[in-house]
Amino acid sequence: MNIFECIRNRRSIRKYTEQPIEFDKLTKIIEAGTFAPSAGNMQNWRFVLVTDKNVIKNVHEHCLHQEVVYNAQALIVVCGLTEKAERLYGLRGKRLYTIQNCACAIQNMLLEAHALGLGTCWVGAFNEDKINSIFNIPENARPQAIITIGYPNEKPKHDRKDLSSVVYFNNYGLKIKDLHLLLRDYSVEWKKQAKTLEESSEKGFKKIAGLIKRWLHNNLKTRKFFDRKL
Ligand SMILES: Cc1cc2nc3c(=O)[nH]c(=O)nc-3n(C[C@H](O)[C@H](O)[C@H](O)COP(=O)(O)O)c2cc1C
Repeated sequence: MNIFECIRNRRSIRKYTEQPIEFDKLTKIIEAGTFAPSAGNMQNWRFVLVTDKNVIKNVHEHCLHQEVVYNAQALIVVCGLTEKAERLYGLRGKRLYTIQNCACAIQNMLLEAHALGLGTCWVGAFNEDKINSIFNIPENARPQAIITIGYPNEKPKHDRKDLSSVVYFNNYGLKIKDLHLLLRDYSVEWKKQAKTLEESSEKGFKKIAGLIKRWLHNNLKTRKFFDRKL
């Protein structure tokens, strides 16, 4: 699987089989997280790996009872350390960079899991205080997300906006016509041309059918005229 295939085919998986996950796969996923970029290479993330079913059920209680958590075979609680980030970069480091660093690590982990045949879901809706107390997370760390993991038991479809509706050129809001041509995505052009051809041949067929109908009609009228004369 190449990188684009992996990115493109990953989906949030919320239903998992009962199959346990190999431990080396879990460690590989976390390792992928640690290779993410981070501001000033701070690597100010920490990961709590959870495989205990009782703990998973307890966490589920504090994630709006989302089934995705209950069904998971493992969880990774991703925490961001804010102290160093604030010391180095002020409020921007504390609020923005720590979140971004963790988000990069999370995406790396989702992709690695997908490449290993596992399904994941990024869960952001949880009661932070309860999660802090379940895992004894200290004051200087903040749980950013919980990643649920398991072997997939569903195959969700793609649901993405067109590039042309999310890309601007040189200025926010500036769109260009036929963006696909600039991006060398000729599939859109082929589809457009095939549609025009289909429509014009449909029009052509309709025109010929009309001519034949008219000819038959006139022919019938002539025959009736001569029949009457004879
Ligand atoms: C910050 C963030 C928070 C999310 N929180 C939840 C969540 O609490 N529960 C859930 O089922 N999915 C959650 N998701 C997953 C999104 O719903 C999902 O990524 C989105 O619908 C796109 O689908 P895809 O991941 O299949 O491409 C979250 C995703 C992000 C990035």
